Amino acid sequence: MQTAIDFPYDFIGQVLISQEQIEQRVSHLARQITQDYRESDKLLLLGLLRGSVVFITDLMRKIQLPLTIDFMSVSSYTGAETTGFVRIDSDHKTNISGWDVILVDDIVDSGYTIRYVKRLLVDRNPRSLRVCALLDKTSQHKVDIQIDYCGFEIPDYFVVGYGLDIDEKGRNLPYIASVDLAKYRS
Ligand code: IMP
Ligand code: MG
Repeated sequence: MQTAIDFPYDFIGQVLISQEQIEQRVSHLARQITQDYRESDKLLLLGLLRGSVVFITDLMRKIQLPLTIDFMSVSSYTGAETTGFVRIDSDHKTNISGWDVILVDDIVDSGYTIRYVKRLLVDRNPRSLRVCALLDKTSQHKVDIQIDYCGFEIPDYFVVGYGLDIDEKGRNLPYIASVDLAKYRS
């Protein structure tokens, strides 16, 4: 059982998904993608910054196909009431027309971000478009979206690690941990 003592963050609750579990699951997803896209010569992994960075760099090294990567940076504004308003801070550089695009994100919560970005990308005429997310808070979805490649379904905890942050902290943890919000606020 992995503990959180190695890292100097005082807000870590519980390790929910260990490094080993993540590694195994990412390998599994990569095998699936390798199989599904074996005929494709135009595979693009499109990561959403910054949360997907750790995930996409592990995933891409396990996909045994020619591929390219690109990134978009988006922010979502969610107050007490989720508005679903998403802003593009920086767009991808690749012309995705004719490409098989896999949109890669760290976590799907309400689903607004993925829905928004998917709609935007569809208008840019990719040959195909699928979604790959490391984590999915299924119970929190506010819109109907399909996640084609999902790492883990998790309950409604706020989590950090493996790229995910709380106010930009915790991204370098090698595992997924819950945040102890009482400790975080104190
Ligand atoms: P959605 O639009 O509600 O699906 O929000 C997805 C985005 O919110 C993710 O890409 C994350 O940036 C952020 N997010 C949602 N839940 C968490 C969490 O538990 N930890 C860290 N970030 C989260
Ligand atoms: Mg994100």
